[in-house]
Amino acid sequence: MSESLATVAYIGAIILFVLSLGGLSNPETARRGNLLGIVGMTIAVLATVLGPRVTAGGIPWIVGALVVGGAIGLYAAKKVQMTQMPELVALMHSLVGLAACLVGFASYVDTSTVFPTPVEKTIHEIEIYVGILIGAVTFSGSVVAFGKLSGRIGGKPLLLPARHWLNLAALLVVVWFGRLFLQAHDVQAGMLPLLVMTLIALAFGVHMVMAIGGADMPVVVSMLNSYSGWAAAATGFMLSNDLLIVTGALVGSSGAILSYIMCRAMNRNFISVIAGGFGTGGGAPAAGGGAAQPAGEVAPVSAAETAEMLREAKSVIIVPGYGMAVAQAQHTVFEITRLLRDKGVNVRFGIHPVAGRMPGHMNVLLAEAKVPYDIVLEMDEINEDFPQTDVTMVIGANDIVNPAAQDDPTSPIAGMPVLEVWKARTSIVMKRSMASGYAGVDNPLFYKENNRMLFGDAKKMLDEVLAALRA
Ligand code: TAP
Repeated sequence: MSESLATVAYIGAIILFVLSLGGLSNPETARRGNLLGIVGMTIAVLATVLGPRVTAGGIPWIVGALVVGGAIGLYAAKKVQMTQMPELVALMHSLVGLAACLVGFASYVDTSTVFPTPVEKTIHEIEIYVGILIGAVTFSGSVVAFGKLSGRIGGKPLLLPARHWLNLAALLVVVWFGRLFLQAHDVQAGMLPLLVMTLIALAFGVHMVMAIGGADMPVVVSMLNSYSGWAAAATGFMLSNDLLIVTGALVGSSGAILSYIMCRAMNRNFISVIAGGFGTGGGAPAAGGGAAQPAGEVAPVSAAETAEMLREAKSVIIVPGYGMAVAQAQHTVFEITRLLRDKGVNVRFGIHPVAGRMPGHMNVLLAEAKVPYDIVLEMDEINEDFPQTDVTMVIGANDIVNPAAQDDPTSPIAGMPVLEVWKARTSIVMKRSMASGYAGVDNPLFYKENNRMLFGDAKKMLDEVLAALRA
């Protein structure tokens, strides 16, 4: 393939990636967005492999790597549970970081390129230094994030004394060694500062993510997503590959935007997330929270009573959360929705931006169960409607419907926007026990006078509700 044809193919792939990102922003167009991304990536890989920069001798290596990598990816994608997706994504980000480091070292030891001017050589070395720096932070940070999300490492934040000073000192040392690296006359002399910087960057990645508490981990995964994009862009600079630069920048900026959206949804400040220390390992109450201990009496109901309340309601809002995903109850939720809608009940869904364990988690599950998109509303679109609602059904959600976020300034989730389900005439919370949710805080919603608790596995209880509705 000629240079110009490869360039045209790259431009086509870039356009498809942009259209793909646009499509992924809406559940209705997400399937098409995915398809465009797949086509774009296929064109990109073909144009690179068949392009002018790959010699015939390199093709068997590339095909071998594609087969091994593709097989591992296929196996992982088939095996992973939906709820384990964030940890798989974290693991994949670590590979992008590792690739950036390896490409950086390979570019440095490869002395075959002749630079026309010393300035160009310096620019190339800066690209290598910065690329390895971002890659190493992404690699070690993502490995720790994987460990935390999969429960192999505890979720409790590790708060070393004077940790911010430690980070600042590491940054200064990195800058100092960067100077030595650029002053080095040959590869041997430059290797030591490069290796020292890599070790510091790896330690920084570990330290940064270890300091972040369980409750902030979703933001960290999306932030590492952003880093992996910048690491890919840095790799693109090192290899002078425009497609990789643009793709990396797209991933880097979309990851940064997602981190911002998630921070806003959790009422967290991005800097304080990075500074760390918020949240526990999940399950156990977070320290310092005013509402950490269960307080008050709850009113349990049966599945038959729940069905009765739903039958008598004119409007129902369903709020799904992580428990619906665990129980895989979305198909029963759809059956109940269809049955109630057939009876003329106005059924809608209220989706919190961080419901579940990854962005869009609930939307994906509801789309899979064929719930119509037009009755699935975002938190901001539906929050005002709760006072006019007869019954709110909270299915395996907890933190996202916690009134303490509004009422208790001492709560660890104070200020986080929540779905105001307690404003409905009756709210029914479906969960197995009185255990806390991801943030580890107790939920005063359970003790409200108009709230009922339907204890049990969400799928099992909803099957019973459906059977009672059909009876
Ligand atoms: P959570 O607050 O984690 O609450 C989920 C509830 O589901 C738990 O209290 C649990 O109570 C219940 N549950 C678990 N398995 C169940 C089952 N089989 N049947 C019925 N109930 C079950 O979830 P949420 O309300 O969706 O809030 C999400 C939380 O996760 C937020 O704190 C958010 O910040 C965090 N987070 C979000 C993301 C993203 S991006 N979405 C990623 C990571 C973390 P029982 O054990 O009593 O059943």
